[in-house]
Amino acid sequence: MSKLANKVAIVTGGGSGIGKAISELFAAEGAFVHILDLNAEGAQPVVSAIEEAGGKAKVHACNVANQADVVAIVQDIGKVDILVNNAGIAHVGNLEKCAPEDFDRVFNVNVKGAYNALSAVVPVMKANGGGAILNLASIAAVVGITDRFAYSMSKGAIYAMSMSLARDYMADNIRSNSISPARVHTPFVDGFISKNYPGQEAEMFEKLSKSQPIGRMAKPEEIAKLALFLCSDDAGFITGNDYPIDGGFIKLNN
Ligand SMILES: NC(=O)c1ccc[n+]([C@@H]2O[C@H](COP(=O)([O-])OP(=O)(O)OC[C@H]3O[C@@H](n4cnc5c(N)ncnc54)[C@H](O)[C@@H]3O)[C@@H](O)[C@H]2O)c1
Repeated sequence: MSKLANKVAIVTGGGSGIGKAISELFAAEGAFVHILDLNAEGAQPVVSAIEEAGGKAKVHACNVANQADVVAIVQDIGKVDILVNNAGIAHVGNLEKCAPEDFDRVFNVNVKGAYNALSAVVPVMKANGGGAILNLASIAAVVGITDRFAYSMSKGAIYAMSMSLARDYMADNIRSNSISPARVHTPFVDGFISKNYPGQEAEMFEKLSKSQPIGRMAKPEEIAKLALFLCSDDAGFITGNDYPIDGGFIKLNN
């Protein structure tokens, strides 16, 4: 029996990395997956692969930082059972290397983007009798990581926002949780290594892999499996929680 039969899911940033793996797995489990992505062209092959495998998906070109865009798309979709707030961007730097425009760029996507999607989707879920929300936080929300000043703050906001939602909408049968991955091997990681450590890519990749006590980065598909559980009815008793998926990063790095 498919775990998400007849469900409609929105996955922001579903065209790459973790969002791509979540979109593919949710579609394989029977959901109609709507991918909201800034890079619609890059997300189209994800939809094509889902359709070739017999699933249903659609790409919507969307900047989650723009509330009007998100509201119009959600109105067009109509019914939404699952929202995965996954779109996110990185910034490497401490306080002194975080210019106001870096701060705004990270917060506009990582925090305001999630707020925008929630503002559009929660009223729809309330009207439909409930839903499941999953927010991509990070280990950076709860552990001090070098040179992740703006990024860590943005993920701390996601961590707290997720609980706040869970409390406020419990009576509406809306569950809200977050996932906190350590490093996952996606274009996001490859991108910041090549941008911030040019010429030292292989060395940095090795270093980042070893920072998980388990000795490697996660695969996007491993994050997608946890996302599927938390968004399915199997997790009906789970709300207001964060789930680290971190190869021992938080508790075993000693
Ligand atoms: N990769 C990791 O190690 C890691 C670890 C912890 C948390 N995360 C979080 O997981 C999420 C996904 O990360 P990933 O590694 O798969 O990233 P990725 O860069 O591979 O993919 C991000 C996707 O989001 C889209 N996107 C970016 N800005 C957008 C915007 N303004 N509007 C709509 N779409 C936008 C991109 O086009 C892309 O398709 C992010 O929130 C990230 O912070 C990642």
